[in-house]
Amino acid sequence: MAYTVPKLKDFSPAALNKASNELLSALQEEADAVADWEKWKLFRDRWQARKNGIVTQIREGWLKPAPSKSKAEAGKTFNELKSQIDDKVDEIRQTVMAWEEGRTYGRPEESTAKSYATAADAIRAIYEMQGVDISLPGIRRPIGAEHPIIRTMNEIISVFRNLGYSVAEGPVIETDYYNFEALNFPPNHPARDTQDTLFLANQESKPVRERLLLRTHTSPVQIRTMEKLKPPLRILIPGKVHRNDPPDASHSPMFHQVEGLAVDTNITFGDLKGTLDHAMKALFGSDVKTSFRPSFFPFTEPSAEMFVSCFICGGSGKRGNDDAPCRPCKQTGWIEILGCGMVDPNVFDFVKHNGYDSENISGFAFGMGADRIAMLKYGLDDLQLFFQGDVRFLEQFG
Ligand code: PHE
Repeated sequence: MAYTVPKLKDFSPAALNKASNELLSALQEEADAVADWEKWKLFRDRWQARKNGIVTQIREGWLKPAPSKSKAEAGKTFNELKSQIDDKVDEIRQTVMAWEEGRTYGRPEESTAKSYATAADAIRAIYEMQGVDISLPGIRRPIGAEHPIIRTMNEIISVFRNLGYSVAEGPVIETDYYNFEALNFPPNHPARDTQDTLFLANQESKPVRERLLLRTHTSPVQIRTMEKLKPPLRILIPGKVHRNDPPDASHSPMFHQVEGLAVDTNITFGDLKGTLDHAMKALFGSDVKTSFRPSFFPFTEPSAEMFVSCFICGGSGKRGNDDAPCRPCKQTGWIEILGCGMVDPNVFDFVKHNGYDSENISGFAFGMGADRIAMLKYGLDDLQLFFQGDVRFLEQFG
């Protein structure tokens, strides 16, 4: 029969004592029967639950109705019982917890209490119980390394930082306005075609200039920066760009550019040539030569493509003793490295309100493919190696 709290009629010390002893022996008996967490919770609730737990029952049945002459005695008895019940519930909680831990290290029945000479001996014994061999070498966490493309971009940036350029960045998801319109692309320019540009879906309800796309070059950040900062300006813009090109050894739908923009009074094409010639010598060695050939970009006028003399064959187009054809320069002795030109006055017109009046200022811009430069610097023939995440490839740069 489970213990029930009796109603007291007699509050004499002797009667209180007798009732207490019965309660305490029930407490001990029920405590001894607790074998796991579930039983402990039932035990705790039976004795301590605010609503109708045994502590509450004795407060209501033994303490409150006690006549005033027995109040002091009843109060003392109640306090003692309550503290013994609290202690017992806590003691059993700790016992169950110790069993649970024992179960992880080895069943309680297997672990015989032992004392160890040193803490280290005790720890070793615990590891042995867990089956851990602490004499095995540890696991070393590999140290990460800069990705070769990021490293190349940082190198380019540092060359220009020494010339007084700072870094600007912009969003990869761009509007048609910044990617095309403000860069003087006419409405039906082929670069706006889906052949090249990856547009976001469901943009048809928006005006064209607000439609979102993945930026196809870092040039939109020219406009974004000129909207924020007044001239003079010298900035470098590194970042990811996307084009709808299927991946192969020299193409990827995602690649990286580093863009440059310098705006001031009296900037000339001579400044453009001098700056880029210096930068190429700093990047590829002081022997390289540069060559500029006319080209076209909507946002620069005049525009040019810059070539560097092939630093692999030294400009001869042939390699080694047997005159094998040099692949990186396709035997021409020259490698195309970037597009550049003087900022078109039409571009300045989009930011005229911020001090860019083409009557007073001029500037040059250039943009290079960081992935291609990294391939040339590290002598790679497959662009995809950069994006496959193969640790055997990447750890060579660590
Ligand atoms: N944005 C051009 C491209 O992606 C490169 C470029 C930048 C050309 C700046 C001229 C000036 O090909």
